[in-house]
Amino acid sequence: MRRIAVCPGSFDPITFGHLDIIKRASRLFDEVVVLISVNASKTPSFTETERMMMIRENTQDFGNVVIDVLDGLLADYVKRIGAVAIVKGLRAVSDFEYEFQMALANKQLYNEAETVFLTTSSENMYLSSSMVKQIAYFGGDISHFVPENVLEFIRKRLVSE
Ligand code: PNS
Repeated sequence: MRRIAVCPGSFDPITFGHLDIIKRASRLFDEVVVLISVNASKTPSFTETERMMMIRENTQDFGNVVIDVLDGLLADYVKRIGAVAIVKGLRAVSDFEYEFQMALANKQLYNEAETVFLTTSSENMYLSSSMVKQIAYFGGDISHFVPENVLEFIRKRLVSE
């Protein structure tokens, strides 16, 4: 049986923090679906197609990562494709309550998959997409936080606004 994991998120845009989690998940599972999902409390800066392009270029070397877009509930998607796990990165303690709540809700909605938390590498502890966008907006250097192609997308989109 192929063990599939889903790695959901806004990825708006993808950062080195996300990529670290995806890479580590790709070593633990046969296949990892990076699932671009709607977070009802966020307004995205990049279209789904743009986010997909940014993710694809940086995950194709992992060998077992595919990208998809979610339109609906994560639990329904996980059930539909027969995934065994939802993989999330856990940063500081501040992430915990929110992530714990989502893990419990997803378990309630679909009992057959487990949420697996991978602790973020220490250098990515405080890294987030919104922080990256804010630093870029004010002209700061974000090259330590995102890959080259994402840097280009951000330059074009945010700095020119
Ligand atoms: O990167 P984010 O914004 O923290 O990711 C949150 C996300 C997109 C994974 C979450 O909002 C989600 O799962 N959205 C899909 C819709 C859904 O299933 N919502 C209920 C989750 S309990």
